[in-house]
Amino acid sequence: MERTRFGTTDLYVSDIGFGCARLGGLFQSADKPGMVRTLREALAAGVTFYDTSDMYTQGESEQVLGEAFHGVRDQVVLASKFGYCLPAQRQLLSRVKPLVKPLVQRLGLRREHLPSAIRGSLAQNFSPGYVVHAVEQSLRRLKTDHLDLCQLHSPPAEVLAQGDFLAPLQLLQRQGKIRYYGVSCERTSDADVCLRLVGISSLQLRMSLLDQSALPDAVKQAAARGVAMIARECFAGGLLAKPAEAQDLDAVLPDDAEREAKRHEISAVHAIAKRGGRSLPELARAPTWQTRCACARPPRCRMASGKPLPRCARARCLSSRHTGIACPNPPLFAVNGLGSGSRCGVASPHDKYRQESLRA
Ligand SMILES: NC(=O)c1ccc[n+]([C@@H]2O[C@H](COP(=O)([O-])OP(=O)(O)OC[C@H]3O[C@@H](n4cnc5c(N)ncnc54)[C@H](OP(=O)(O)O)[C@@H]3O)[C@@H](O)[C@H]2O)c1
Repeated sequence: MERTRFGTTDLYVSDIGFGCARLGGLFQSADKPGMVRTLREALAAGVTFYDTSDMYTQGESEQVLGEAFHGVRDQVVLASKFGYCLPAQRQLLSRVKPLVKPLVQRLGLRREHLPSAIRGSLAQNFSPGYVVHAVEQSLRRLKTDHLDLCQLHSPPAEVLAQGDFLAPLQLLQRQGKIRYYGVSCERTSDADVCLRLVGISSLQLRMSLLDQSALPDAVKQAAARGVAMIARECFAGGLLAKPAEAQDLDAVLPDDAEREAKRHEISAVHAIAKRGGRSLPELARAPTWQTRCACARPPRCRMASGKPLPRCARARCLSSRHTGIACPNPPLFAVNGLGSGSRCGVASPHDKYRQESLRA
């Protein structure tokens, strides 16, 4: 697995990150020892970057990470997020989860089956006092004394504009409880204001073959400022990974015209995958720009010098369901990609020749 410098920080991370949002969910079939095993297999395969949040699976995602990596803390880069507050219903759910989960599995229930009254609605809090409290709770669950990266979890534009969270983050940094901070944006349009925040080290954005909105500006500006990019939802929430019959497009896109347009986009990407001799999930794991290079515009895959870029390492797979992907060319931009749960994504690193290739 290739390692790459994370922006201008002194962290080095694997090109492939592990997205931990689905780790420990009520609807996931894996039990705790299975999840711990998967995480350790990921580390053994060379994955060192793990992205979680204090609200993922009511805190269980962080707990499982803590259990898996306690004792090998120095080998992993832990990125978490804060800002969402769990409603009382979900806090209660987390307490009864061990009892309810077997039943959910037996009945084959899925998230959509849960009435919204039981799920409750999520509130957000980015106030200075809450930042400190949330980070300390994350450290406890992760069984560590520091977070490598502390991210704001989908903050609204007004919160970003006010920047009240900066002082407590800098205090936590001075205390050694967090090493770096960044933002995980809900909207690409927030990238610009995030990139102007004092001391920001990373920006996490949605990036997939179906959503390339970050490519024209955000990725370039982040690279120019030395801010690391984290590409998330590379499988477009499953649309680029699951077979058509397993996709519930009606639930995601109730509007007929939008749904039809999305089907069109997906089949266009299918056609690109076919031309490149890859499956769609394989193609989706490669960052968009790399995909373009591999399948559509090979001449762009050159260094500023005009030489072809070297082959990148074969991505290792995290479970038997996955096959590796040999990237024909390293990606052009500085991005780390996140796979979901036990899936892998492919990321492109921040290093000099890739910056050169971007300018080329
Ligand atoms: N606001 C934020 O900060 C934010 C928001 C979203 C995500 N994230 C980060 O990004 C990570 C990834 O996001 P995500 O999981 O929502 O999106 P994703 O990776 O785009 O999609 C996950 C979906 O793809 C399916 N899938 C993946 N590989 C597959 C394969 N080979 N075959 C069949 N299906 C496959 C998964 O199926 P299964 O359900 O069967 O596993 C799941 O439904 C998260 O873990 C988190 O770290 C951050």
